[in-house]
Amino acid sequence: MPTPSSDTATKSYTLGLVGARGSVGRELIALLQRHSAIELTSAWSESNAGQPIEGVPGMSFEAPDLDAWRESAPDIVALALPNGRAAEAVAALESSRRPPALIIDCSADHRFDASWVYGLPETNRSRIRGAGRIANPGCYATAMGLTLSPIRDRLLGVPHCFGVSGYSGAGSTPSERNNVARLTGGVLPYSSVGHIHEREVSCTLGVPIRFAPSVAPFERGIVMTVLFELDAPTDEQALASIYREAYRDEQLIDVIDGATPRVQEIVGRPGAVIGAIQVDPAHPTRGAAVCVIDNLLKGAASQALQNINAALGLHKLEGISP
Ligand SMILES: NC(=O)c1ccc[n+]([C@@H]2O[C@H](COP(=O)([O-])OP(=O)(O)OC[C@H]3O[C@@H](n4cnc5c(N)ncnc54)[C@H](OP(=O)(O)O)[C@@H]3O)[C@@H](O)[C@H]2O)c1
Repeated sequence: MPTPSSDTATKSYTLGLVGARGSVGRELIALLQRHSAIELTSAWSESNAGQPIEGVPGMSFEAPDLDAWRESAPDIVALALPNGRAAEAVAALESSRRPPALIIDCSADHRFDASWVYGLPETNRSRIRGAGRIANPGCYATAMGLTLSPIRDRLLGVPHCFGVSGYSGAGSTPSERNNVARLTGGVLPYSSVGHIHEREVSCTLGVPIRFAPSVAPFERGIVMTVLFELDAPTDEQALASIYREAYRDEQLIDVIDGATPRVQEIVGRPGAVIGAIQVDPAHPTRGAAVCVIDNLLKGAASQALQNINAALGLHKLEGISP
């Protein structure tokens, strides 16, 4: 864990961001403007190098330059690079004269690496405290993890998760999944088998799951419907009370029992809402719940900040307003 640096007059820690002009990078920049202890000192972007950063007066994107990074050596490095590109950035940072005390990777590159801590703070904050290498969970994986963790030890069989994401989940590089004109009026299922977040949740939860994603023509947000079988009969009240108890001390997680959470209402907010908690009266071991998050916030940037706060021992909501 980095100790507060004396590099900046006003804030205790310096942070450099790689992949700064992407969808996640921009959200993280916006959040950091409100953070009292962390100063964004470098924002790397190949394509936007030299251009001013919106909302950050006097600061421009910089061309990636490892030598310059070796000089500036921020305390914290946040990576918002595509999957497959973060590992090489980490290798370069690790080989520098002063590797960052804390690296947080928003890609999938270190989520299966046992030497990194998987950062889903509501389920493992004590492991994140003091960690130097944190893998930020995937967006769908966050919604699945939050819904399945409280009932993990009561599951029988394989839960099935059906996630619908806004097109910002596909990042800003043009693709079928963020082509608004092609998406309009429909829903596009993809990767119905073998999605990496299926493997991520199965691995971190320690219970196999199935997951089918789709993308819909709204910009931000995820609606995750989770169907599961429990090892004993229950009812909706009892099931909802498991969720309420699990998240009693978590200001970012709202449990609304049987009411259905609306994805439109979570957009722009850093937490999650879990609702539509149901049990089939005809088969009282069969349950369901729905979780909504903003994929760019709880699914990425605000969760990264939660993890950084936890690693540094800062207040858990610093820079994040529920
Ligand atoms: N979008 C989401 O909802 C979401 C949620 C959770 C996690 N994530 C993960 O967070 C990471 C960033 O996602 P994003 O949505 O912000 O992606 P994005 O909008 O596509 O931005 C990617 C960033 O990485 C830089 N980059 C470097 N090498 C690149 C390459 N070969 N191809 C494309 N971009 C490259 C980009 O370009 P410049 O260097 O030119 O700036 C840009 O700054 C990904 O690993 C993604 O899986 C995304």
